[in-house]
Amino acid sequence: MGTPECITHEHEVLIIGAGGAGLRAAIEAASTGVNVGVVCKSLLGKAHTVMAEGGMAASMGNVDDRDNWRVHFSDTMRGGQYLNNWRMAQLHAQQAADRVRELESWGALFDRTRDGKILQRNFGGHKYPRLAHVGDRTGLEMIRTLQDHGIHQGIKFYMEYTVLELLTDGGRIAGAVGYDREKGRFHVWKAPAIVMATGGIGRAFKITSNSWEYTGDGHALAYRAGAELKDMEFVQFHPTGMVWPPSVRGILVTEGVRGEGGVLRNSEGRRFMFDDIPDLYKDQTATDPEEGWRYVTGDKNAMRPPELLTRDHVARCIVREIREGRGSPHGGVYLDIAWIKEKMGKAEAHIRKKLPSMYHQFKQLAGVDITKDAMEVGPTTHYAMGGVNVDGETQMSTVPGLFACGEVAAGLHGANRLGGNSLSDLVVFGKLAGEHAVKWAQAHPTPTLDQGQIQGVCRAALEPLERDTGESPYEIQSSLQEMMQAKVGIVRTESEMEQAVVSIAALKTKAANTSVPGNIEYNPGWHTAVDLPNLMVVSEAVARCGMDRKESRGAHFREDHPSKEPSHANHNTIVSRGGDGEMKVERRTIPKMPDDLAGIIKEMG
Ligand code: FUM
Repeated sequence: MGTPECITHEHEVLIIGAGGAGLRAAIEAASTGVNVGVVCKSLLGKAHTVMAEGGMAASMGNVDDRDNWRVHFSDTMRGGQYLNNWRMAQLHAQQAADRVRELESWGALFDRTRDGKILQRNFGGHKYPRLAHVGDRTGLEMIRTLQDHGIHQGIKFYMEYTVLELLTDGGRIAGAVGYDREKGRFHVWKAPAIVMATGGIGRAFKITSNSWEYTGDGHALAYRAGAELKDMEFVQFHPTGMVWPPSVRGILVTEGVRGEGGVLRNSEGRRFMFDDIPDLYKDQTATDPEEGWRYVTGDKNAMRPPELLTRDHVARCIVREIREGRGSPHGGVYLDIAWIKEKMGKAEAHIRKKLPSMYHQFKQLAGVDITKDAMEVGPTTHYAMGGVNVDGETQMSTVPGLFACGEVAAGLHGANRLGGNSLSDLVVFGKLAGEHAVKWAQAHPTPTLDQGQIQGVCRAALEPLERDTGESPYEIQSSLQEMMQAKVGIVRTESEMEQAVVSIAALKTKAANTSVPGNIEYNPGWHTAVDLPNLMVVSEAVARCGMDRKESRGAHFREDHPSKEPSHANHNTIVSRGGDGEMKVERRTIPKMPDDLAGIIKEMG
């Protein structure tokens, strides 16, 4: 093999990923006048953020004026079972409302209350209606707005590029090497500061709401560059994805359906969520006299139906119904929004207005009219709470000059994320990451690139194209997804996760021996082959961290350890790459929360 040619670019700040977090980071960095590049795997405007539907959480208090950042902070910490980085939870709760107003000032058109304020809807785990939204297309509006705004900031976009590896110089970040997916040419970006904003890992599982890009690239790139990953055992399974037809299995059915009054029923027609009310709410079930609606809290002004309990709980109740034979014909349960016409006097047009995407999604993909009939839904892999371990203040990882924000970063959500906290996470921490990346870049000299490292990465990437025989990358990817779904899914056990680790080792060996026909141009088989090492890293991290946490907490549910264990209550799980290249897992005690924040939690009960 000759020496692969590379095209070199130079930026002061390089952002990898062009979803909400990446675009917000880029806008912030570019606003200071530095030279910013954004590399994205897909086309601009097609990032997974567009799939976020129900809204962005921010304590604006437009619908219930008792809401404020302190309640939002407390809800987020409770949802995360107190494993959250409390500083991130504080910054997020304090700054989310400003980020919503900023989006509005940049042109986002949010739904309105009758008196013209930004409308906020109910979502699971949030005490008050808190999700600013645009029907059920909030992520799309966010991306449209950030893109329209960002496009005028002089940012250089590299669309349809895959980053293969990060480059370091004496331990600090120096750049990245990748290729353009269209022509297959290699590119090198030299940059003293890099912001990872690559999203999640859902494509490691068979059933997922995540787009094709979510192959854990940012997690794995950072890990191989020496960064720590944190809390990888916490993978959120959204309770409601489509289950039928098979081609659309996993596609998100927004929690906004339940926020607008949708109820879950089993094949016997029973609202099974009342069968398992957590102890905290046991004495508080009530009936709303006006709407004939049942709630789990007795506080009339903060009433919540059990369908809006946290996602981990709802998902497990659905799994129980399916396992015990009370599921729907295609292995789900029923989600009914049509009932609100009769019981709450709402018109069909109201449902279509509030949930336009859901209406079209079910009509076109499943032939179901949700204003008349119930939807069939079941859990779908949705979100990684775990990710790159970052400093709560600056978003810098343990590799100097490498920052992370959005889903690829860990900390804000702890053991379980509340719905709507991800869109606000993107813009709050995208802004902060962009700001601190600029400060870092301005304070540090241009790094030196290691040409040997670059050539090694390019040669390794070309190997699948040069083998005459070998393994099929598609088969490896599909075996991994099946195995992760079966062994490291919603309900886990030690022995199944052990089996997963063994399977991953075997699949890694196969992934190192793939063979792909064709050449570097327009070659999806090749793209799949180069994604595999990243999928292996994140899958192994989820399984190993899951084995280490011998309890059930948040999104991590172990059938062999069904309760919370006090010995696990106060630590994060940290993954790093050992000197021998093996994955190391350790427990790290969470720093003590300052008294003022602890006081808020106490006050909120
Ligand atoms: O259900 C939803 O609309 C998802 C929102 C979220 O995960 O934040």
